This record gives sequence, structure tokens and C-alpha cells, in this order.
Amino acid sequence: MGNTSQQVAIVTGGGSGIGLAIAEKFTKNGIDTVIVGRDEEKLKTAKSQLGDCCHLMICDISNLGSIPALIKKVIAQFGKIDILVNNAGINMKKDFIEVTDEEFQRVITTNLCSVFAMSREVVKEMLKKGNGSIINISSMAAQYGLPRVIAYSASKTAIDGMTRAMAVELSPKGIRINAIAPGFIETDMTAKALNSDPERKQKVFARTPMGYMGKPADIGEAALFLASDAAKYITGVVLPVDGGNSIGF
Ligand code: NAI
Repeated sequence: MGNTSQQVAIVTGGGSGIGLAIAEKFTKNGIDTVIVGRDEEKLKTAKSQLGDCCHLMICDISNLGSIPALIKKVIAQFGKIDILVNNAGINMKKDFIEVTDEEFQRVITTNLCSVFAMSREVVKEMLKKGNGSIINISSMAAQYGLPRVIAYSASKTAIDGMTRAMAVELSPKGIRINAIAPGFIETDMTAKALNSDPERKQKVFARTPMGYMGKPADIGEAALFLASDAAKYITGVVLPVDGGNSIGF
């Protein structure tokens, strides 16, 4: 069991993109960070980059039944969980009428049901010590209507509602729940969504007052702040980190 004074965090989807940048920020600040993902090689590469404070666990979080055992494993190894970042997510861009029930459900299971199941199991542990911080990664798709991402938009809008509902129920018990709504950030996900669609890309830039896409590290900074005592009076917020995209004309 690790040193109990050292903070312990879980970052889902911590092997790439925004999750990797959050894990990097946490480990640089001495937080023991468990990155969770499906691809062992990707996680190993991330660990070799992040060093001793980084630990990896393999889990497909869309397999909801595997989540209680995952959290038990983290507790067995580290004794507690201080921070959970629900970051793993998938996108699917398709015309509304072409989306099958199975495709819709797949996105909802990964982006929403797993966030609920992870949070529930982690909260059980946080309640035992009376504190903790959970950060859900939302999206601009919950701030305004985006065409051709129906399941993704539904999942991220639900994340915002769940963040508020969890905050009112759990904050009196010492657990803060917040969300970050990243704008358009340079990762594999946006490369897939935008590079084949120059019109969409142009629209993103046109309504982003800062005029450029964000870096994963920008989200890392916000996550570290929300997880830390500097944010000890902040709960239930959805913080846009978006270069002004959500208020752009
Ligand atoms: P990414 O595709 O680079 O990273 C997502 C990570 O989640 C990957 O490592 C992937 O393997 C993991 N993952 C996906 N399904 C999983 C599963 N079932 N079990 C375990 N791990 C799984 O994407 P990116 O851009 O870093 O996205 C991270 C989060 O940020 C997502 O929730 C996404 O919706 C959100 N986001 C990203 C934005 C962007 O501009 N890149 C904008 C708004 C939100």
C-alpha cells in the first residue's frame, strides 16, 4: 500500500490526448496517477513518458461489470482514491437518421454509463474518508447544438446534469464534483472529426475568439486546479476551457 499522505488519482483514457495531458500534469505535481485504458502498449508508452508516479491498469470501461473490480484493485494497491477524472470517451459522426440503436447505445455506454459506474464505485471509497474530487470531461456538444453527433451530444449533455446532481448530493459529504467542457483541442479525436471536414473546421475557428485550437495541456491545467485545494469552494460547475468558443458569435 502506498504512502497515505500522497494523493491518488485515476484518469480514464489516460493513455492519449487530453487524458495523457491530465496524467502528466498530475504526476509532475507528485500525485500517484493510475491511467486506465484498453490498450496495454499505449499505456506502457505513457508510463515510460510520465515516470514513477504513473501506474497503469487495463480495463475496457464500457464493460460496466468490470468496474467494481478495477476500483477494488486500485484500493488494494494504493489504499485510497482522492481524485477521479472521467475522461475516456468516444465520438461518432454520422447523419441523424443513419445512426443505429446499437451505435447510439455504444456511445452512451462508454461516455455516460461508465462515468456513472466509475463514479459510484469511487464515491463509495471517498465517503469512507469524507473527501474527494471528481472531474467529468464534458464538451462543447453540451453547450450548443452540433450537427451529426447525436449520441455524443446526448452523452455529454447528460454528463453536465449528472455533475450538478452529484454535486448537490455529495458536496455536503466532502466530495466535490465538477466538469470541464473543452473547446476544440488538438487530439486524435478532433483530427478524425475535423480533418475530413474543412467546412466544419472553418466554422470552429470562426467562432473561437482566440482563433486557434487548444492543447491537451490546457485541459491538464484546469483539471489540476479543480482537483486541488485551490478549488476547495468550487463544486457543481462546468468550466469551459475553450478559447471563448462557447460564447463566440
Ligand atoms: P482520444 O481519442 O485521444 O482519447 C480518448 C481516450 O479514451 C483514448 O485513450 C481511448 O483509448 C480511451 N477510451 C475510449 N473508450 C474507452 C473504453 N471503453 N475503455 C477505456 N478507455 C477508453 O480523445 P481526446 O480528444 O483526448 O478526448 C478525451 C475526452 O475529452 C473525451 O471524453 C472527449 O469526448 C473529450 N473532449 C475532447 C475534445 C477535443 O477537442 N479533443 C473536445 C471536447 C471534449
